[in-house]
Amino acid sequence: MEPKLQTFLNALLLLSLCLSAAGQTCTNHNFANNEVFAACVDHPVLNSFLHWTFHPSNATLRMAFRRPSTSPNQWIAWAINPNALAMFGSQALIAYRNSSALPHVYTSSIDLPSPTMQQTRLSFEVPQLSATYLDDEMTIFATISLPPGMTTVNQVWQEGPMAQGSPLPHAFTGDNRRSLATLDLLTGSTTAAVDSVLRRRNIHGVLNAVSWGTLMPMGAIFARYLKVFKAADPAWFYLHVACQTSAYAVGVAGWATGIKLGGESAAVQYNTHRNIGIALFVLGSVQVFALLLRPKKDHKYRIYWNIYHHSMGYSVIIMSIINVFEGFKILSPDNKWRRAYSGVIILLGAVALVLEAVTWFIVIKRRRSNSNKFPHNISAHTAKVENRV
Ligand SMILES: *[C@@H]1O[C@H](CO)[C@@H](O)[C@H](O)[C@H]1NC(C)=O
Ligand SMILES: *[C@@H]1O[C@H](CO)[C@@H](O)[C@H](O)[C@H]1NC(C)=O
Repeated sequence: MEPKLQTFLNALLLLSLCLSAAGQTCTNHNFANNEVFAACVDHPVLNSFLHWTFHPSNATLRMAFRRPSTSPNQWIAWAINPNALAMFGSQALIAYRNSSALPHVYTSSIDLPSPTMQQTRLSFEVPQLSATYLDDEMTIFATISLPPGMTTVNQVWQEGPMAQGSPLPHAFTGDNRRSLATLDLLTGSTTAAVDSVLRRRNIHGVLNAVSWGTLMPMGAIFARYLKVFKAADPAWFYLHVACQTSAYAVGVAGWATGIKLGGESAAVQYNTHRNIGIALFVLGSVQVFALLLRPKKDHKYRIYWNIYHHSMGYSVIIMSIINVFEGFKILSPDNKWRRAYSGVIILLGAVALVLEAVTWFIVIKRRRSNSNKFPHNISAHTAKVENRV
């Protein structure tokens, strides 16, 4: 490369390092023991910081992992995963305050088949390991002999609860899922994890919130409230069928992604969400195929079919909405998504309420002009209206 270009690129690199360092809060931190590290990063989640000095000549990493506002009932951990950017296979340093109120630190290889946090040796040497707990800030200090040539590491960090002096599993949602990133020990650049499971969970969430959670209630609104307008006579039926079948088609795709995700998540089972999901799929499928068994409009069993179809349909809708919110609990996305979906449901509810009032008004008016008898219920009346047309 041209020397001038090289100089320019170096200057650019230096500038970008300075700029990124200026945005960090970790650079202003002074350790109580006056230890100084060459570099640091603010972790994007779980309110924690990594400080380190790396000697490529002998592959020695000196590091400190710091987490302010760690309660005495919490453990913290920082790990390198030599194999993948994932929890399983992590070579972890774990610290907590033990029953003598002292910071206790140890190593643990988090691996299948039993990913417990028992004390075990790591796949690399840790010649020095200590921890401090000062003003609610827990810090792990370690010297690590990395495998020669490893200058970029997959790092995983965590916090979790304690019970009776032992660390319990951490949460598996939200920030506790996002706490992984690669770190280039030489340049300090980090790359947040592209969490493919999280991405697939998001796709699953969108598919199901749109299909089961939004299109199906919309289809029910079409059926119930357009029916009363004579002009909308067969149109409401086709709208209803189109809405429900497309909801069902997308919903089956969403359901299948959910079953796949559930099968992969052997370590954590979300039973409520899973069971409601399976029941929904069964009821939804029965509902679609029951269409083929629908008796003619004037058949004497049609009334039973209608009762069945309505009660099943409303149950599916209620369960769908409940399960979308169960899904929000698991995925814990940004609150705006939960708020957006709640907004859609409130809007649909409000539209249904207004249309319900309009329907009653029309039906009563029609009834009055036809006879003096007050209608017992809308469906009996609309059935009559239908029969007339
Ligand atoms: C590794 O190298 C650094 C600097 O060259 C030195 O300070 C450190 O003591 C070495 N560590 C080991 C374990 O040899
Ligand atoms: C607490 O941890 C410290 C440091 O590891 C250790 O010396 C001490 O024995 C531990 N106390 C208990 C009760 O385990």
